[in-house]
Amino acid sequence: MVYDDLENMNSIIRNCTKCILHENRKNAVCGIGSLAPEVFLIGEAPGRSEDENGIPFSGRSGNLLRKSLADTSITEHAFYITNSVKCRPPNNEKPKRESMKICNEYLKSEIQLLRPKVIIALGNTSLTALSLITGTKYGNISEMIGKKFEWNGTLIFPQFHPAAVLRNMKRLDIFNNVFLEVTKILRN
Ligand code: URA
Repeated sequence: MVYDDLENMNSIIRNCTKCILHENRKNAVCGIGSLAPEVFLIGEAPGRSEDENGIPFSGRSGNLLRKSLADTSITEHAFYITNSVKCRPPNNEKPKRESMKICNEYLKSEIQLLRPKVIIALGNTSLTALSLITGTKYGNISEMIGKKFEWNGTLIFPQFHPAAVLRNMKRLDIFNNVFLEVTKILRN
């Protein structure tokens, strides 16, 4: 199903019991940000702090991400941020394909309702979630960084997940360069 009203969809997400992830969640975590975003960011899944407070990317990964975005002049007003699945997988595991497939209708609706100019897929899981929507099979994120794909008038940029940058800070320059490239394209 594709939803035609974001607020209505978010209230459905908050009470969603369609997959096993609802069993252990404290809060389902809906996307937040601009309703006319230039940039639409997709993460993997809520972690502990997001599960506690219901806000995507509100932990360490989010701090790094927001700082890099701000440094490359993509302001909070210009972006919307969401996840491939809206509930925290137990023990911070990667979401299982079953949950990703079930939750994909929410992501698909967010994209269709907000029609962003640019989608940034943060990490392999979000690229996989996106491939369920676009029908394109992307490769592994590490080979995809620096590339961009056109889909229905939207540009898709594969990007490291900020947690992968936190694990290896040598990736920070590449991470920031992707955002710089996005900024350049948006300002042209
Ligand atoms: N927080 C999120 O909301 N998503 C992630 O992928 C990681 C941390």
